[in-house]
Amino acid sequence: MELKNKVAVVTGVSRGIGKASVQALLNQGVKVAGWGIRNPEFSHPDFHFIQCNVKDPKAVESAYLETIAKFSSIDILINNAGLGYFGKIEEMSLEQWHEMFAVNVHGVFYCLKNVIPTMRKQRSGHIINISSIAGNTPVPEGAGYSATKASVKAITHSIYREVRSDKIKVSVIYPGSTRTDFFNNFPNTMRAEDMIDPKDIANSIIHLLQTPDDFLPLDLEVRTMNAK
Ligand SMILES: NC(=O)c1ccc[n+]([C@@H]2O[C@H](COP(=O)([O-])OP(=O)(O)OC[C@H]3O[C@@H](n4cnc5c(N)ncnc54)[C@H](OP(=O)(O)O)[C@@H]3O)[C@@H](O)[C@H]2O)c1
Repeated sequence: MELKNKVAVVTGVSRGIGKASVQALLNQGVKVAGWGIRNPEFSHPDFHFIQCNVKDPKAVESAYLETIAKFSSIDILINNAGLGYFGKIEEMSLEQWHEMFAVNVHGVFYCLKNVIPTMRKQRSGHIINISSIAGNTPVPEGAGYSATKASVKAITHSIYREVRSDKIKVSVIYPGSTRTDFFNNFPNTMRAEDMIDPKDIANSIIHLLQTPDDFLPLDLEVRTMNAK
């Protein structure tokens, strides 16, 4: 896809992978609607922040309507908003378990449900879902998080066949540990310099988007080279 002047929606844009992705897309001349709780605190003429908690289906619908009113089309959807809570299964609170599914799984569904009809009408589009290596290889003390990210993989693998005939691509990225605030919720892990730079995930997103129209990169697992 030629990226200049295309319109992207990125969810969860205040920091981390989402913010780096917004910046990489803007550098390619893409117009970006950022759907999130907090603003990333930078301004750019082609960036439009829309307040949206993705676990609220009404908020997602109104973010979708505001995006169409502002930009008229949506060519790219990056389902990035997500969070993880970790700990022994019997100690996991109901609230944290439900919160992970509400954001990481139901939020992805609400965004797809709103955006896909527009992409079908356009007969073009590229959706990139952010899963995790935990979605491929579940981690101890991460049953809930791993289950949500395995769901993101399953959703991707289900729908790419549904929408391919309308020229819509769906890809999923499985990042390894990435240097973001994601680890603030971890009791025993801190972000560290040997983790993946979120800018490198953003560059991978650009690379996937630039693939030829008749070529679908479905799965991309990325890891650090600095593992101890
Ligand atoms: N970091 C890693 O090692 C790693 C590895 C694999 C996969 N991932 C995945 O990558 C994605 C991005 O994570 P990150 O590492 O960049 O973490 P992060 O720095 O904690 O950023 C998470 C982003 O998601 C947003 N968000 C959370 N809940 C939201 C909601 N209900 N509605 C809208 N936005 C919401 C946050 O917004 P606010 O700041 O406004 O709350 C924030 O911008 C997540 O899906 C995560 O599961 C991360």
